[in-house]
Amino acid sequence: MNQNETINWGVLSTAKIGREKVIPAMQSGEHTHIQAIASRNYEKAREAADLLGIPDAYGSYEELIAAPGIQAVYIPLPNHLHYPWIKKCIQAGKHVLCEKPLVLESAQVRELKALQKESGLLIGEAFMVLHQTRWQRVRELVQSGSLGKFVSAHSIFSYYNGDKDNIRNSLEYGGGGINDIGCYPTVLSRFVLGEEPVRAAAFVEKDPDFGTDRLASVVLDYPSGPVTFTISTQMVPYQYFQFFGTEKMIEVNIPFNTPDFRAMSIRVNSGDVHELPQIAESFAPENHYTKQGDAFSRSILYGEAFAGSLDNAEKNQKVLEAIVKSAKEGTWVNV
Ligand SMILES: NC(=O)c1ccc[n+]([C@@H]2O[C@H](COP(=O)([O-])OP(=O)(O)OC[C@H]3O[C@@H](n4cnc5c(N)ncnc54)[C@H](OP(=O)(O)O)[C@@H]3O)[C@@H](O)[C@H]2O)c1
Repeated sequence: MNQNETINWGVLSTAKIGREKVIPAMQSGEHTHIQAIASRNYEKAREAADLLGIPDAYGSYEELIAAPGIQAVYIPLPNHLHYPWIKKCIQAGKHVLCEKPLVLESAQVRELKALQKESGLLIGEAFMVLHQTRWQRVRELVQSGSLGKFVSAHSIFSYYNGDKDNIRNSLEYGGGGINDIGCYPTVLSRFVLGEEPVRAAAFVEKDPDFGTDRLASVVLDYPSGPVTFTISTQMVPYQYFQFFGTEKMIEVNIPFNTPDFRAMSIRVNSGDVHELPQIAESFAPENHYTKQGDAFSRSILYGEAFAGSLDNAEKNQKVLEAIVKSAKEGTWVNV
């Protein structure tokens, strides 16, 4: 690969998601080279760099974003640090791909839009699921009327995490299930339907010790029909997504943490409740983090559109805000 067709990346922090999933996946990308990693502690950065085969290690985030050889930065910091570090990266002249949720308030996305425009640099949100071939196919099937007329969709996303020290259980750090995983059924229902929900209604339960939301059951009222989902950070781990039309339904298993080591499928059931759903389509194994990294690199190199755009982030955040407000007020809230 010609060097001009590769983007040099740096990573801010030794976060678990970066070390275990995103960095190794990005390293096998066509247009993506991970040049550096930074930690608040130099030894941690050096250890991660050696383990992952990353050339440069820095003992502060500031040093990495000032490094002249770095063109783009991947940010997997705790949620409350996304916004300030995106701004610092842009001010240092770097493109930024930041973990979800990009920010904690939609007003912050509007500021980032202005920064992106002024600087000519790109800011993207790391919603890896939007890069899956399988999800692109589900969207095509639903929007082309393969299920008949769309009626409703339903999703579950849960895991059990009672660790008081985990960033997900800290209010101060922007934790809670809605920010951590409620963003996924939201972004995927918007993606598949190609619409924005008009209003939201939600039941939310908070953890009495952490103060973060640990269970949310949500109805999003789309022009085409309702999408309902339950997410929880203190429930048996499970995930699925189903889309129902007047004639058929599609079931998407492991829709969010989709593995890359085996072929995946979608199952289409055309009506008989006593028949096992037939396997309708199979998809070759792919890594959505590799695809995401390359999509962002290509966006920098060739100006290709990136699915995790700021427009998308702003619209998604507005829905999450309506969900939180609805739970507080006990009524429907317009998005
Ligand atoms: N897309 C996905 O599939 C996916 C999956 C999981 C998580 N995520 C997102 O990725 C981000 C990180 O999640 P994670 O579970 O990987 O986090 P994590 O393991 O807790 O790592 C967060 C990192 O942030 C750095 N940090 C800086 N200031 C900190 C502070 N005050 N407290 C704690 N850590 C601090 C630390 O790195 P240093 O010590 O090296 O500086 C730490 O290792 C979150 O935004 C989350 O929503 C995305």
